[in-house]
Amino acid sequence: MTTDPSAPEPAGTLVVIGGGTMGRGIALAAVAHGFDVRLVDSNTSVGEAARDHVESRAAKLAATAGVSPGAFSTCTDLVTALAGASVVIEAVTENPELKHSIFVTLGAHADAGALLATNTSTLSIAPLAEAAGGSDRVIGMHFFNPAHRMLLVEIVVGPLTSEQTRADALDVCARLGKDPIVVRDVPGFVTSRLGLLLGNEAMRIVEEGTATAGDVDKALRLGYNHPMGPLELADLVGLDARLNNLHSVHERTLRAEFAPPQILIDLVRAGHLGRKSGAGFYRYDADGRALATPTA
Ligand code: NAI
Repeated sequence: MTTDPSAPEPAGTLVVIGGGTMGRGIALAAVAHGFDVRLVDSNTSVGEAARDHVESRAAKLAATAGVSPGAFSTCTDLVTALAGASVVIEAVTENPELKHSIFVTLGAHADAGALLATNTSTLSIAPLAEAAGGSDRVIGMHFFNPAHRMLLVEIVVGPLTSEQTRADALDVCARLGKDPIVVRDVPGFVTSRLGLLLGNEAMRIVEEGTATAGDVDKALRLGYNHPMGPLELADLVGLDARLNNLHSVHERTLRAEFAPPQILIDLVRAGHLGRKSGAGFYRYDADGRALATPTA
């Protein structure tokens, strides 16, 4: 058999841990760019929903990218999924203990050369590298929602992260068609710090009755050319996820501007988690389209 020396190297096997909002989007981006993807979620019904999400879209996206889609499978057992994988991207719930336990498993069972990335929005990379046995292969790869469409990946370099790991993460971004930035490991990195502050101020404006959610979002869309207002974006991200991120950055910086606004706490307490629950700052129909009457 002869091989074509000009053919690109195969993308390899990529494991995504967590098949929720972000995990399924990252999996879709990877399959559509030729990676063989194994998606691990502890909840089988989430795995099935992620399979529908990926399989219904991958072929069309791959055709647009001009590549053959990779294989896709789901499972619940992380250790089995890790065998032979060259890239691992963790996208489980933003819970430090949970992520810590996953990186302990990665340190013990991932292939020695595998890139070990976390999609955390706010947590520090350093303790995760420690959990993985002091590995220099741990790095942040912070994707944006929806991960198969948003171009940015924020690469977060921890104190133990090697130059090779940083180069490999940039290479994975290039293979995924992403346009990354590289930042240091500080609470909230760059994007969460800026995004949380804008969102908090928008929520406080609604809370104090200065303007409606619709007008606040319109101000940022039409006045500052943002494609989406900060409250629409918070609903898309998930208000529970936003609240978690604020707690995390606030606890680590002790800066009052990152304290969660009461209106956000109240919406989450009432089960209004944004688009995914049918209501947040706005109300949504069953297909996730915003209805005319805002909640706030
Ligand atoms: P999500 O709640 O939609 O999904 C998390 C998934 O992790 C769930 O499906 C859950 O079943 C799974 N999971 C929990 N424990 C597990 C385990 N031990 N093994 C395997 N799977 C497990 O959360 P989402 O929004 O996808 O967030 C995931 C991560 O991505 C978080 O760190 C979050 O901060 C970050 N992020 C979220 C963004 C967003 O817009 N939602 C944007 C960028 C980053």
